[in-house]
Amino acid sequence: MRSSILNLLRQRSGEYLSGEEIAKQLDVSRTAVWKHMQELKQGGYAIEAHSRRGYCFRQAPDLLLPDEVSTGLKTKFIGCKIHYFNQIDSTNNEAKKIAAAGAAEGTVVISEEQNGGRGRLSRGWFSPENLGIWMSIILRPPFNPQDAPKCTLLAAVAIAKAIRQVTNVNCGIKWPNDILYDGKKLVGILTEMSAEMDAINHIVIGMGINVNITENEFPDELKDIATSLRVIVGEPISRVKLLQEILSQLEELYMSAIKNGFPEILDDWRKYSVTLGQTVNVIGINTQFSGVAVDIDEDGALLVETENGKQKVIAGDVSIRPKQTS
Ligand code: BTN
Repeated sequence: MRSSILNLLRQRSGEYLSGEEIAKQLDVSRTAVWKHMQELKQGGYAIEAHSRRGYCFRQAPDLLLPDEVSTGLKTKFIGCKIHYFNQIDSTNNEAKKIAAAGAAEGTVVISEEQNGGRGRLSRGWFSPENLGIWMSIILRPPFNPQDAPKCTLLAAVAIAKAIRQVTNVNCGIKWPNDILYDGKKLVGILTEMSAEMDAINHIVIGMGINVNITENEFPDELKDIATSLRVIVGEPISRVKLLQEILSQLEELYMSAIKNGFPEILDDWRKYSVTLGQTVNVIGINTQFSGVAVDIDEDGALLVETENGKQKVIAGDVSIRPKQTS
């Protein structure tokens, strides 16, 4: 009902609609309309109420509310079910929990704030209230478990495309899935999987996107290594618009991977890459070496040309060595 009332108000945005008219159109009582209006106002919607003229929609709150994200979302299944939180430890933890309990493919978990946000390699993830997109998406891909890392590359390409589409910012992807701008981290992706030997039960793709964090709001230890779209563009960015575009791009690429495999996505990844052609330091579980990153192979592994020949990097920490200036 809340969504129907919102849709009606939005369609006639700027105009007054009487409680009676709304009640008639939606076949509910005027008291029910009044109650929903109170709830919407408490939820941060700017709705003017006038004793004779009725209600007038002015503005939605700057929140990633399911009603907001769903309005105008053109996907077929990704984001059709949204679990929304004001605060949570980690959206990945929640997504893994509901995925194990049978949540549908495409279900999205969003939180305005995380107090236990997790990054790769057991690092934390700074996730302040209302300033970023902290979300996890559940997929149930019909791929072999060995293909799962390519879903992370796919997500990185989808996010990079969406950022370019909505903000015009040309960001780059550092292998495997960090999105950087000017060497600073803008987006991190954490993919977690539950699988049998030969089939994936589910994949949770967690994304942390620094959208509207200002320079001063980053903690000291992140100031030199992280950035946000707001810092780059110089003004706040609509989180709802960006989120909708990410879900659309993700669905398009995911459907294309199911239909045609990953070659096109890997090609797109190469175009966005800031790693290829660079000298990199690789820290793996039992190894450490450096060399020039020359390509990714058909599995999405990074190929690094070293003194001892070409090495294939499947996992680990890859840092780009800054170019010598003298
Ligand atoms: C990284 O670069 O280390 C990955 C960071 C991933 C952060 C996101 S925020 C939403 C989701 N929930 C988490 O706890 N982590 C991911």
